[in-house]
Amino acid sequence: MKRILLSSRPGLKSCFQPPSHRFRIVTANYATMGHTIPELKDKSLFKQQAFVNGQWIDAKSGKKFEVHDPSTGKLVGTMPEMDKTDCENAIAAADAALPEWRRLTGRQRGRLLHKWFDLMTEHAEDIAKLITLENGKPFADAKGEATYAASFFEWFAEEAPRSYGDTIPASVPGNRVYTVKEPVGVCGLITPWNFPAAMITRKIAPALAAGCTIVSKSPGETPLTAAALAELSVRAGIPKGVVNFITALENTVEIGNTLTSSQTIRKVSFTGSTNVGKLLMKQSSDTLKKLSFELGGNAPFIVFDDADLENAVNGAIASKFRSSGQTCVCANRIFVQEGIYDDFAQKFAAKVRDFKVGYGYDEGVTHGPLIHERAINKVVDHVADAEKNGAKVVQGGKKIPELGPTFFQPTVITNMKPSMKIMSEETFGPVAGLFSFKTEKEVVDMANQAEVGLAGYFYSKDVQRCFRVAEAIETGMIGINTGIISDAAAPFGGVKYSGFGREGSKYGIEEYQIIKTVTVGGIGDLQS
Ligand code: SIN
Repeated sequence: MKRILLSSRPGLKSCFQPPSHRFRIVTANYATMGHTIPELKDKSLFKQQAFVNGQWIDAKSGKKFEVHDPSTGKLVGTMPEMDKTDCENAIAAADAALPEWRRLTGRQRGRLLHKWFDLMTEHAEDIAKLITLENGKPFADAKGEATYAASFFEWFAEEAPRSYGDTIPASVPGNRVYTVKEPVGVCGLITPWNFPAAMITRKIAPALAAGCTIVSKSPGETPLTAAALAELSVRAGIPKGVVNFITALENTVEIGNTLTSSQTIRKVSFTGSTNVGKLLMKQSSDTLKKLSFELGGNAPFIVFDDADLENAVNGAIASKFRSSGQTCVCANRIFVQEGIYDDFAQKFAAKVRDFKVGYGYDEGVTHGPLIHERAINKVVDHVADAEKNGAKVVQGGKKIPELGPTFFQPTVITNMKPSMKIMSEETFGPVAGLFSFKTEKEVVDMANQAEVGLAGYFYSKDVQRCFRVAEAIETGMIGINTGIISDAAAPFGGVKYSGFGREGSKYGIEEYQIIKTVTVGGIGDLQS
């Protein structure tokens, strides 16, 4: 059977073993290779079970899968390898919890979400430690993610009581028409490893705010962070069955199939690859589910001649190398107008040269590993393809075996051509390819060649150009004179093969609601 995975960054089956003499056991549960990782302040956040119907449980089969530190390959925990039956039990629990949860007022649900936000904020350091442990991103970035993740609870705690319907002037005399927003029902959430906390909270918070209950499939590579979030849900007082976290690595496809084909699940929200999104959409068609998909990107990052060069360089660094290039909104194709190309390339490469690649907990580390060796292989392939076709690696370009098999040098490549792979494929790694262009029209055409359209960025000081180009670029999100656009307050989502639906913002909650129309007839005249 062909194995189809639920994210563009599928399961880590570690095939490398770090040299054992470099291990230093830090706690009974987790350790890393000669690099101290701080212990959790609250050790009870380290869970190695799934969370269903208010209980910490194992898979019915008793099977488990391993979780590894991508920096070292070291085993850091195990989790239940759940299957269809386990998933169905979680769906049943969410279904049973739905009537009472949806009956609460938005204000009551919002208060509980706010408690969850407070707890995440209080435990942000511990959440960040878990993120670095299983995802590898530097601790400072992981702390940023913990804060970002918590912000979705805060945002949707505030949206929950403000879910207004409309009063509609009826066409029929004597009729009155109004709408109410109702929860869509039980939701299945499937999230990736690149933001082990934020991608989950971005879905759970609006779902719960709307009055839905959920079954969340934790990412196979990063389930420990998800389990800590589940533990905080208990402390926040979220009633049993409202949130259910199931875990699987090998059975990920089976779980995806169970969620999408269930009659009880009324909505699936997925973040991951376009190919898997297409599969999940097909699987959901028999039960006509509501869907929202945040799929792959291939973000254009355009620097016009009139840009503030320093700002543009900094923005490109932030956008391209965030999480070592492993976000869906990372710049993938950097287009620089010919008049400033050499200057930009030189300044950009100089900044990249200053990065410190290493283990996430080590002092001064700015960039961590990639999630697994398959990710490295793609990066190697993109660099080789560019070089073979005449591009020039001006910085990096190689693996870093002395750090481990998942480390790659932050790389800058000049003389890129549109025929090269980076133009059409998302690299999802720390490789910046710089393309040169002459005119606004030419660069917008190149930007729009991608079949995906999640984020795009450009730098210019010309106000008219800013409007023109923002309107012409085919993406769901545009950053003008900034390389960072993520914010719980701003709608996040794409067009074309990047999917549909919006997360965060005032629109995010609508993805988990239906509009019910109520028509009252025969009002008549005042009775005398
Ligand atoms: C993603 O990579 O899918 C999300 C990135 C973000 O929220 O900034």
